[in-house]
This record gives sequence, structure tokens and C-alpha cells, in this order.
Amino acid sequence: MTDERYAIADTSQMLSPSLVIFRDLVESNLAEMVRIAGSPARLRPHCKTHKMREVIELELARGITRHKCATIAEAEMLAQAGVRDIFWAYNPVGPNIRRVVRFLEKYPQVKLAVTGDDARPIAMLAEELAAVQPVVDDRLAAPSTERDWPVVDDGAKHGSVEVLLDIDCGQHRTGRPVGPAARLLYQQIARMKGVTPGGLHLYDGHNHQKDVSERRAAVHAIWQSAAKFRDELLADGLPVPRIVAGGTASFPIFAAIDDPAIELSPGTIVFHDWGYGVSFPDLNFSVAALVFTRVISRPADDRVTLDLGYKAVASDPPAGSRVLFPALPGAEAVLQNEEHLVLKTPEASRFQPGDELWGMPRHICPTSALHKEVYVVSGGRLIGTWAVASRDRVLTV
Ligand SMILES: Cc1ncc(COP(=O)(O)O)c(C=O)c1O
Repeated sequence: MTDERYAIADTSQMLSPSLVIFRDLVESNLAEMVRIAGSPARLRPHCKTHKMREVIELELARGITRHKCATIAEAEMLAQAGVRDIFWAYNPVGPNIRRVVRFLEKYPQVKLAVTGDDARPIAMLAEELAAVQPVVDDRLAAPSTERDWPVVDDGAKHGSVEVLLDIDCGQHRTGRPVGPAARLLYQQIARMKGVTPGGLHLYDGHNHQKDVSERRAAVHAIWQSAAKFRDELLADGLPVPRIVAGGTASFPIFAAIDDPAIELSPGTIVFHDWGYGVSFPDLNFSVAALVFTRVISRPADDRVTLDLGYKAVASDPPAGSRVLFPALPGAEAVLQNEEHLVLKTPEASRFQPGDELWGMPRHICPTSALHKEVYVVSGGRLIGTWAVASRDRVLTV
């Protein structure tokens, strides 16, 4: 690797294929994230990109106390790292409802929030939670129809989980569009015992316009309708304590909006990746995670085969564009199997089995989850390994 930032004193004992985290670059990405946000208090970064406790500890050290996750295992990892304010940005359904209760029993010090976009599973969660709350309302005994969830009429909430109403702002993945149905649902949440309305979740993963002024216009349009909707809820007398908004591409735009309810939730930027680097030239983050691979064969004069199959680097980008090799920019990835990647390159004769190559994953988030642990480099030296702690679906609850 010619880029000095990725120089390592000795790679001879490093296993391949592996994922290598450059801690100093992670630190500079975090510093840039906080700078853009204006304050660590405005951030709620998503941990799904890395799933590593040590990264959370770096964020906590920077004063970032609010965190976001996609699975209960990630929530548990956050709790174990000392996070006390966790937003599980996912709709609990099925046995996961019971897991929320178990999570709170195990981590009573954690303030947990979840998303919701449908009255039935939210009511099921509310009932489970109300059943374990110390103050019991008689009306809880007979929950019945969809329109008659157990309610409190005095606003008293006892150790409640907060439910953020998931707003579909254009991605059409989850959520409700702002409007009367969403407003009614928020009112219903406010009336359920066991849960509390926690605000709005506004994830705009479709706002990936390369042109930053186009992206800005799209984000502002979303924000205007969400803020108007928030004002309607406030006029209903309902609390809207926060609006968790944005990913890597949009959080700088949300950050420039002066509204104390906004919490910014980028994820990928902690490690960044080749894909986002190409897509968002306006962002000033460094790729802080590389894959390390070795040549295992030279099956033809113009071919180099690496030990970098799709069990070591994410395969959701199209075949042929899953990893960039800065040392071989013109190489064409012609075949990838579980444990093999075949490159076609006129420079093949430069390589022998055992030679090392560094690659930039196009999509780092699923790549992290393919590795049980990662190497960590700082100051040009290998300083240890970090476990990808929440790559497992279940930790203990
Ligand atoms: C709900 C939610 N919030 C935040 C993020 C972070 O977005 P990004 O990875 O673009 O930073 C994601 C990414 O998938 C997400 O699904």
C-alpha cells in the first residue's frame, strides 16, 4: 500500500483474509463527525457498521452518550460497553417483544427506546411491559380489541420503554408517512400503559444524491413535513422529545438545521468505505477498515487468485465491484466464490503465491459482520484485535 496512513511495520504473522481497522483513522472520522454535529450531544451514531464494543468506547470517550442499533444483540453490546441511552431502531415483533422485557430486566440502568409503525405489535410490547411494571392498572387485566388497548388516562408512565414513531420519508422500507394515520397511531401510543411516545424516527436511506445541493433540497423537504407533523403532535398535547434523523449522507444537512429535537444517526462513517467515498465526494472521511488478502494462485498469465471470497468481503454490491485494490486499480474481478477472488490484470506476472494485497471494501457494514475479530493498527503497528461482538444474533437475552 503506497498510502502512508495504511503502512504497517510487520504483516508477516497476520492471517488472511482478515479485516484490519486503522484506529487513528477511526479517531479522525469520529472527530469529524462531532465537528459536523457541533456537539457530541447532538449525535446518536448507529453501531451496525462495526458491531464492536471498542468503537463504542472510543465514542463514549468523546462524550457521545446516545447510541442507535439494529438488533437486540447490538443493544446488549452497547449496554455492556456502558451505554445508558439506547435506541433500538427496529420494530419489535414475535419473540423479540419478550426479549425487550428480558433486556430491561438484565440492564435496568438502560433507558431503551424502540421504533413502531403498527398498533398491534406496539400494544403487545406495551402489555408485556405493563405486566412487569410495579404499578398495575386494573384495566390491564382485559386487553381486547385493536381499538381498546390498555390505557392510562393520567399520563403516568412507570419505567416505560419509549416508542419512536417510524416515519416513512420516502425509502418505503418501514414506517408510516406523516398524516392522519400516523397522528392517530402516536395518540394511541400515548394512551398505552407500558410505553411512552418517544418522538419520531426519520431515516432517509434513499437520500444518496451525489450532488450535494440536490441532496440538501431532498432532506429539507423531508424535514419540513416532519417538523410540521411534530408541531401537530405537540398541539395535541403529546411529547415529542426527539427526532432521530439521517445517515452518513444526510446527517451534515440535518446538522445544519437548528432544532434541539434533532439527534443525528450516521453509521457508516466510523469506518467509511469505498462505496460512500465515491458516492459522496462532499464528505471528508477516511476509509478506516481494509481487507488484507494474499495471492494463493496464478492460474493463468493474466490472472491472480486471492483468498478473498465473499465469506470475507460483502457480496451485496454487484460482482466485479465489491473491493478496490489501490495497488492494482485496473484489475478486473472476474470470479468470486466463497473463499476465492480471481482478478484479471496485465500486471499478474508481478505477483507470486504468498504476496499480500490490501483492498477497500465497497460496503463495509456487512463486511464487518463476516469477521469474528479484526486486527487493529495504530501508529503503524498492529496493537491487537477487537471482537466483532454483536455479529451474533443473540448474546445473552
Ligand atoms: C435506521 C438506520 N439509521 C441509520 C443508518 C446509518 O446510515 P449510514 O450507514 O448511511 O450512515 C442506517 C443504515 O443502514 C439505518 O438503517
